[in-house]
Amino acid sequence: MTNAEILAASAAHEIGVYARQPVAFVRGRGAELWDADGKRYLDFFAGLAVNNLGHCHPAVVEAIRAQATTLLHASNVYYTAPAVELAALLCRHSFAERVFLCNSGAEANEAAMKLARRWGSEHGGRYEILSTTGSFHGRTFATLTATGQEKYHQGFQPLLPGIRLVAYDDAAAMASAVRDETVAILVEPIQGEGGINVPAPDYLPRLRDLADRHELLLIFDEVQCGMGRTGRLFAHEHVGVPPDIMTLAKALGGGLPIGATCTTARIAAVLTAGAHGTTFGGNPVACAAALAAVDELARPALLQHVREVGAYFADRLRALAAKLPVIREVRGVGLMLGAELTRPGAAVVERCLRDGLLINCCADRVLRFVPPLVITRAQVDEGFAVLERALATA
Ligand SMILES: Cc1ncc(COP(=O)(O)O)c(C=O)c1O
Repeated sequence: MTNAEILAASAAHEIGVYARQPVAFVRGRGAELWDADGKRYLDFFAGLAVNNLGHCHPAVVEAIRAQATTLLHASNVYYTAPAVELAALLCRHSFAERVFLCNSGAEANEAAMKLARRWGSEHGGRYEILSTTGSFHGRTFATLTATGQEKYHQGFQPLLPGIRLVAYDDAAAMASAVRDETVAILVEPIQGEGGINVPAPDYLPRLRDLADRHELLLIFDEVQCGMGRTGRLFAHEHVGVPPDIMTLAKALGGGLPIGATCTTARIAAVLTAGAHGTTFGGNPVACAAALAAVDELARPALLQHVREVGAYFADRLRALAAKLPVIREVRGVGLMLGAELTRPGAAVVERCLRDGLLINCCADRVLRFVPPLVITRAQVDEGFAVLERALATA
């Protein structure tokens, strides 16, 4: 099928929930993709921070191949080795002692919120979860309610009670929002969808302190900023404060769908048999892919590469900003970078696509750069030639 045929078939049969670029991809390798008409693209998007290892990383592909010929699915009525090995690996690499495996970021956050509610019901009958403005946590009703962006709520009210939004990067506002019924704070260590918003260095430590003082559960949504994206395996490592619950998805599966809710043994104890679950959670193929992906993403040399290439990428963005007044601000950490423009960014994204570069725009005017972490300096340079032209002309 050609691009045009695939687009036509989509218009005829898919529910049109995505505002898509007019291109269909058929093949990927590293930081490159090819569309159905054979055109090559350089990827600064990584499937929205999923293909952190690049497209079709050989270790991930081989793990999927091996598992797919052995066992595809067994059900959580039974045990399987890939799931328990993945849970153990995530614990080895983080503060966590217990893991719940699911299929997406929204599901991981849903489980985190249910865990917090259940824990609160046993600790003073508390239920309220404080989330932040500008956040994105998913599309299920609970995660949608916790998502601090009005545009995603349109037409879906009434939303879920017991979730309240507080200004992001404002620890004092969070402190005054806490009341008797509050049980948890849900926050992205770096906001992605909201426009690559990096909070002040003392924000997460102050939330940690607040949570400790009021016996609240601090939930870090690392669905986008985790898995090596910022040059550490988890973004909160930059400020050195652990959460009580951490959610993961996106890059966790190396390109296959999987999510994880990670916590301590003490907190996990409130979720007893029958309290929560999902049919495909811990699927052997997804877990085999994730085991290979986490092994790669946790390699110190790769994380060092992210810090180095990320610094180079950010320097190049700042140099562009000095030249082109259309760039208002450059921000981000590692290879999670944003360039806020003085006007909407859609035309720049379209121009880059036309010229073979995949970028993305979020929060209307923030160009978001979340390339595969394996991207080389030469590829960054190649992309910047396209980007500069697009910014100057679009
Ligand atoms: C920070 C964050 N949390 C949760 C989600 C939802 O993940 P999913 O689309 O896998 O449900 C996203 C998706 O963009 C995200 O960026």
